[in-house]
Amino acid sequence: MIAKPPFVIGHRGACGHAPENTLGSIRKAAELGARWVEFDAMLSADDEIILFHDDALERITGRDGLTAETSFDVLRTLDAGSWFSHDFAAERIPTLMEAFTVLGELGLGAVVEIKPSDGRGVETGSLVAAAVRDHWPSHLPDPIISSFNEDGLAQALDHAPEIPRALNLYKSLDGWQDKMVTYDCVALHCLESLLNEADVAKIVRTGYDLRCFTVNEPARASELRSWGVASVFTDFPERI
Ligand code: G3P
Ligand code: MG
Repeated sequence: MIAKPPFVIGHRGACGHAPENTLGSIRKAAELGARWVEFDAMLSADDEIILFHDDALERITGRDGLTAETSFDVLRTLDAGSWFSHDFAAERIPTLMEAFTVLGELGLGAVVEIKPSDGRGVETGSLVAAAVRDHWPSHLPDPIISSFNEDGLAQALDHAPEIPRALNLYKSLDGWQDKMVTYDCVALHCLESLLNEADVAKIVRTGYDLRCFTVNEPARASELRSWGVASVFTDFPERI
């Protein structure tokens, strides 16, 4: 089912209210009224697709080591919620399939961000794209696959050409048009502070959807919307 995302997209679930990239964070986003969420899809050492943002485990789990060097059965034992609040001590690092089940139950759309650990763009892109292609709940609106990683986007184009893609940018807008064409993207997702009104007008005139991260202030969200930004990723869906 093709349906454009709404203006508000929960960032890493609703990561202002619950530990990022957990099932609890996805549920919280829905509870707060979000109809779409974004999360980060990374590989464990044994190629399980998990929701996780960092190359290193320390910030979220307090454990030394790299995500890409840790097997899923070990990752699964780690506490992914206490760093945020002891109320979330039961949260575990979820698999992409578990996230799909929860999205299906809640009726949420999603931006699935391919988030490779350093040097793992090809494997992460190919496995995530194939998983979305083969297992996305058919009753939900079509998802969007996004990435900062060009190997990841190339793999998504190769393995799941029919699933819409978005190019993520956070350093600069340089070269965005060529990259959009190369990876046949339909949308540009960029750091909100990279944009001014003229940039937004130029991007929107080309026909691409433009979305921004991370926007937690309602006044900034209103300004971006008035310029033509289609959606914002926010940690606080209820604020926007
Ligand atoms: O997908 C948009 C946004 O999540 C990109 O930045 O670092 O939060 O994954 P990051
Ligand atoms: Mg992300």
